[in-house]
Amino acid sequence: MKVFQKLDDFLNFGWTQISRGKADKKSPARHPTLVTSSLDGYPNARTLVMRRCDRKNNQIEFHTDTASSKMLVLKKNPQAAIHIWLPKVQLQIQMNVVVEVKVGDITIPSWRNVPKNSRVAYGTIPSPGSIIDNPDAYDHSPDQKRFAVLICHIKSIQLLLLGLKHIRANYKKTNNWQGEWLSP
Ligand SMILES: Cc1cc2nc3c(=O)[nH]c(=O)nc-3n(C[C@H](O)[C@H](O)[C@H](O)COP(=O)(O)O)c2cc1C
Repeated sequence: MKVFQKLDDFLNFGWTQISRGKADKKSPARHPTLVTSSLDGYPNARTLVMRRCDRKNNQIEFHTDTASSKMLVLKKNPQAAIHIWLPKVQLQIQMNVVVEVKVGDITIPSWRNVPKNSRVAYGTIPSPGSIIDNPDAYDHSPDQKRFAVLICHIKSIQLLLLGLKHIRANYKKTNNWQGEWLSP
């Protein structure tokens, strides 16, 4: 079991786990939950694949369909949260993020890197979340214009490590990631 006495060491451990989301296909960090606010008051949580993470610039990247409902909500309120639970190391990671949405020609370089068989995720007809008559009543029409890159700018990271004695800390960008211990 890991024990941390230094805030920096704990944050480094957190980032090692976050980075595995991109580097290790088997890591649960590959599938974070992105939580957005919603128009009806109920927050919306959904699983997304982590496409890129960048500690230097405090970013996590996701890709989505421009016609999905999260796009409308993010336009109104780009503040969102990311949640990751890593059972092997007993670590919960919570992040507050501001989501920058990129669509159009600027996404072409990223689109080129999307494998052909994965492109079907961007362009479903009718739009994701539409009511349909039966489970098969939809088509795939992969379309770069329906491809959105979501760049999550991380504003805070909260870590909770379960153990004989739980350890919890919060780190804020505004505090230059210095961090502070929290009672678990
Ligand atoms: C394992 C898993 C991975 C997923 N990856 C993505 C993804 O990378 N991008 C995406 O838009 N949706 C992905 N989804 C589907 C989303 O969870 C969600 O259903 C979809 O984006 C519509 O969300 P919205 O209606 O809240 O906008 C994934 C779902 C699962 C279960």
